Amino acid sequence: MHTRIFLIGFMGSGKSTIGAQLARRLGYQFVDMDHLIEETAEMSIPEIFSDHGEVVFRKWEHDILLEVCRREKLVISTGGGAPCHSQMMDLMNNHGTTIYLKLSPEALQKRLIQSKTERPLIKGKTEIELQEFITELLKRREKYYTRATYVVDGISLHAEELASLLRDS
Ligand code: S3P
Repeated sequence: MHTRIFLIGFMGSGKSTIGAQLARRLGYQFVDMDHLIEETAEMSIPEIFSDHGEVVFRKWEHDILLEVCRREKLVISTGGGAPCHSQMMDLMNNHGTTIYLKLSPEALQKRLIQSKTERPLIKGKTEIELQEFITELLKRREKYYTRATYVVDGISLHAEELASLLRDS
């Protein structure tokens, strides 16, 4: 029985899209941590970064995660940096099942260029800068991401594949 399912991975890896579909299939509630932070702070993520800075954002992200860990039957889409700060990867692994949606830097770059979501960490970067940024940051973050219960290929992933992975385990 998977009480809480945390989807983790880099920005643009499809956590929110797949998460909402997976929650529907399992009859679980879907929670997007970034949205919860925005609702609680009554500010958008870019506003939080520009007005308060990343350190404050990480603190609020941690607070929201603690709250989420008290709820049950949830699929949770986490922010790309969450597993890599304030021991949040341990917290998630101790309170649920973690699934890393793994994509190559090239695939992530393609998706992020097409994405309409404003992301403060990549705002204003040229294509070359974005490419270097993703490659470098992904390298640093993968040591956290790969501690997930499951690592799955995020390219053309269907929620049903995740649902059956969870049912069979
Ligand atoms: C971040 C990812 C974002 C959001 C914030 C920081 C990161 O979420 O939490 O902009 O550090 O990678 P998504 O992964 O949903 O884009």
